[in-house]
Amino acid sequence: MTGDSGDMAAVLAWLAEAGADEAVGDVPVDRYALARAPERARAQPPDGAQGRRSAEGAGRTPTAGRESGGAARTDALWRPQGGGELVSADAAQSSARNLAESATTLAELRGALARFDGCSLKDTAKHLVFADGAPDARVVVMGEAPGAEEDRQGKPFVGRSGQLLDRMLAWIGLTRAESVYITNVLFWRPPGNRTPSNAEKAACLPFVERHLALKQPDYILFAGGQAAQTLLGRREGVLKLRGRWFTYQNADLARPVPALVTLHPAYLLRQPAQKRLAWRDLLAFQDAMAQGRNPAEDGG
Ligand code: URA
Repeated sequence: MTGDSGDMAAVLAWLAEAGADEAVGDVPVDRYALARAPERARAQPPDGAQGRRSAEGAGRTPTAGRESGGAARTDALWRPQGGGELVSADAAQSSARNLAESATTLAELRGALARFDGCSLKDTAKHLVFADGAPDARVVVMGEAPGAEEDRQGKPFVGRSGQLLDRMLAWIGLTRAESVYITNVLFWRPPGNRTPSNAEKAACLPFVERHLALKQPDYILFAGGQAAQTLLGRREGVLKLRGRWFTYQNADLARPVPALVTLHPAYLLRQPAQKRLAWRDLLAFQDAMAQGRNPAEDGG
C-alpha cells in the first residue's frame, strides 16, 4: 500500500464492502505475526498492548481472532467496557444465568441485559437490541443477530431483511403491531456482521431462554439456521432444517412450544428463487396455528 490517499480510499471502500466496517480495537494487531508465532504471541501481546489494555477499557486479549479456526474469541478472556476484572466465558455464562433468572418481567430482563457486561459484543455495539412487536403475541419470531440498522435503532429486523420479514408475516396475516413478537439469539451486533463466537452465543443464551420463558409463546418461527441451531441444539444447515417442526422446551417454560424453521429473509434477498420454500413454510405455520396443532408431535 502506498501513502496515496486515492489508494487508501479504495482500500477502505473494499473493507467496508467486505463487512469490516467497525474499528474493534485501538491498537493494531499484526495477524500475520500471530499466525507465524501463535504461542509466543498469545503469551505476550504485541506492541505493548498488555500494558495499555486496562486504559483502553475494551482491551481484549489478542487470542481473539478467526485465524484460530473460524469462530472468534471462543474461549477468550476479555475485559468489559470501562475496565474491571478480566471475564472468562464460564464466568460470563454463570453471571448471565443469575441475572436472567432474577428477571420476572420482560422489562426486568431488558434491564438485566443492559447491566450485563459478560458479552464482548456489547463493547462494539451502539445499542442493545432486545425485542420488538406485541408483548402478548402468541408467536415469537427468533432471528440471529442485529445488523447495522438494528444496531443504530436498537430494534430487531428494521433493515432490508426486516422489511422482507414484515411482508412474509403479512402473507399469513401476522403483524408486529398485533400478533408477533420479534427477537434474536444475540442482543448486540457482531462487528462487521461477523460470525459470533461460541462464547458470545453462550453469554446470551440464558437471557434468550428466560426471554422465551417470560413470553410463553404458543408458536416459535426460527428465521434462519443459526437461531434454530442455538436453541434446538441441531447441527444441520438451514436447508436441512427448514420446513421441519420441532418441539422447543426449556426448564422455565410452562409447556413445550411447537417451532418451525424457515429461511432467513437476508438469505431470501440474496436468493429470491427460494422464496417459494419460505412461502410453503409459512403456509404450514399458519395452518398449524389455525388448528392449534404441534406437527412435531402429531406426525405432521
Ligand atoms: N437479521 C437478524 O437475524 N436479526 C435482526 O434483527 C436483523 C437481521
